[in-house]
Amino acid sequence: MDYKPKAVAGLLAATCVFSIIALILSVVDVKVVFLPPSIKYGLVFDAGSTHTALYIYRWPADKENGTGIVSQVEACTVSGPGISSYADNATGAGASLKPCLDKAMEIIPVEQQRETPTYLGATAGMRLLREQNSTKAEQVFAEVSKAIAEYPVDFRGAQVLTGNEEGSFGWITVNYLLETLVKFSFAEKWEHPRDTEVLGALDLGGASTQITFQPGVPIEDKNTSVFFRLYGTNYSLYTHSYLCYGQTQALKMLLAALHQGSLPAQQISHPCYPKGYRENITTADLYDSPCVHAPGTASRAQTLTVTGTGDPAACSAAIQRLFNFSCGANTTCGFNGVYQPPVRGQFFAFAGFYHTFHFLNLTSQQSLNHVNSTVQTFCKKNWSELVETFPQKTEYLHKYCSMAIYSLTLLLDGYKFNEHTWSSIHFSQQAANTDIGWTLGFMLNLTNMIPTEALEPIKGNQPSLWAGAISFIVLAIVAGLVAIFLQCFWKTK
Ligand SMILES: *[C@@H]1O[C@H](CO)[C@@H](O)[C@H](O)[C@H]1NC(C)=O
Ligand SMILES: *[C@@H]1O[C@H](CO)[C@@H](O)[C@H](O)[C@H]1NC(C)=O
Ligand SMILES: *[C@@H]1O[C@H](CO)[C@@H](O)[C@H](O)[C@H]1NC(C)=O
Ligand SMILES: *[C@@H]1O[C@H](CO)[C@@H](O)[C@H](O)[C@H]1NC(C)=O
Ligand SMILES: *[C@@H]1O[C@H](CO)[C@@H](O)[C@H](O)[C@H]1NC(C)=O
Repeated sequence: MDYKPKAVAGLLAATCVFSIIALILSVVDVKVVFLPPSIKYGLVFDAGSTHTALYIYRWPADKENGTGIVSQVEACTVSGPGISSYADNATGAGASLKPCLDKAMEIIPVEQQRETPTYLGATAGMRLLREQNSTKAEQVFAEVSKAIAEYPVDFRGAQVLTGNEEGSFGWITVNYLLETLVKFSFAEKWEHPRDTEVLGALDLGGASTQITFQPGVPIEDKNTSVFFRLYGTNYSLYTHSYLCYGQTQALKMLLAALHQGSLPAQQISHPCYPKGYRENITTADLYDSPCVHAPGTASRAQTLTVTGTGDPAACSAAIQRLFNFSCGANTTCGFNGVYQPPVRGQFFAFAGFYHTFHFLNLTSQQSLNHVNSTVQTFCKKNWSELVETFPQKTEYLHKYCSMAIYSLTLLLDGYKFNEHTWSSIHFSQQAANTDIGWTLGFMLNLTNMIPTEALEPIKGNQPSLWAGAISFIVLAIVAGLVAIFLQCFWKTK
């Protein structure tokens, strides 16, 4: 019987194979070759005036100083209104954040949660609440902080951003994502891109709007000037945030102006609402914000009937009256006497600007004439016609005309874009699959992920050399493997 020699031969062959595998594992550092680089996560709550969203970012831990490295994993929208609406029910503000935090805990591996930097930044909605009643604002902050602190993350606090910070961080986000600050070149080192101008940022929120750009002339008013050194390059930027000129508050100011123009009647004709549209509002709801001032004669609990007249020319005239376009002592200005140098370079317009223009299919660089005529046509549509054409969009449908005319007035008469510079505005929601807003720039700044000095070339990690080394090792192993296998095979015969 020859089964015994066969078993011995099999055992020998198996030993050969295992020793070869062991050899491969000892030669090649398995971790380097087969495991992805370790990933870090960061969380930022954007507590806006109308709603809150939680952004979940990730990046490879070993490359955290480069640009174009941080990407967005998820944007979770908190259901319900912005945290400033919980002024009389602060615990509700905390509770509202939990479903998004739960979602983040499902995405971030358990072993990394404790080192995940987590921030909450609030903008103009909370600036207004703080102006109205700072005690209530503090209560809301205490409750949202308590809710976040219940999760196993590295919570680094809740804060109100200043208008200048909001504008600056939006600008950093845009330029970081487009890699206009620094780029990894073909020469395998980081360099400041030549012939690439940084882009300006135009943000339209619910309660404020921000404009930020590099003007190329000295900034005359230091309140509107910010200075950064990023990757070894100095940037001197103009930035300003107009409180109350976000779209929700601006449309509230418009309605209040129309109400005060029609007193003592309780009927309001609204030229920006579609013909055939009708709604009831109370004076208490209309005058609930520091952006509008109730006339002395109106009682708090009156009900007003608002009727649309669908008249874009009258709408435009009424919206113009919300602004003061006189520059006063300034040589050049935006509006309400705020200094602004002339706009310069390319701009990204995001948030409210994007949403309104996207709904109207106007985000593909159409000419100003085309934009104007599209808006005019849309504003003249009857309510019944609109509801029939857009059955899913009824919540904001009656407001798109006002928002479009408001955005155009702000860009053209407010920020002083004209028919020539119009084409430099790019209406965008995302770049590199990441939402554009202040949150990413805010996180990059607070985690020190943008160094002030130029980056060193990445040492000892040149991809071509590394690839060469790996191929050599693999070839050597394959050759060795064949040799050993032939030898084993020969021995067992
Ligand atoms: C990023 O830059 C900072 C300061 O310039 C430095 O201390 C840190 O080690 C850098 N991190 C990486 C991963 O290169
Ligand atoms: C602010 O709110 C607190 C309760 O949250 C209230 O006691 C106080 O009177 C309010 N202050 C003002 C100025 O309305
Ligand atoms: C408009 O702004 C100018 C300059 O800031 C100021 O002098 C003027 O009083 C303002 N007009 C109104 C109606 O507020
Ligand atoms: C935008 O374009 C889509 C698809 O072409 C169309 O269904 C929609 O009605 C357009 N929206 C407006 C406001 O014209
Ligand atoms: C970013 O953080 C640094 C401190 O680390 C600060 O000096 C700088 O002003 C911040 N940048 C912005 C835009 O706020």
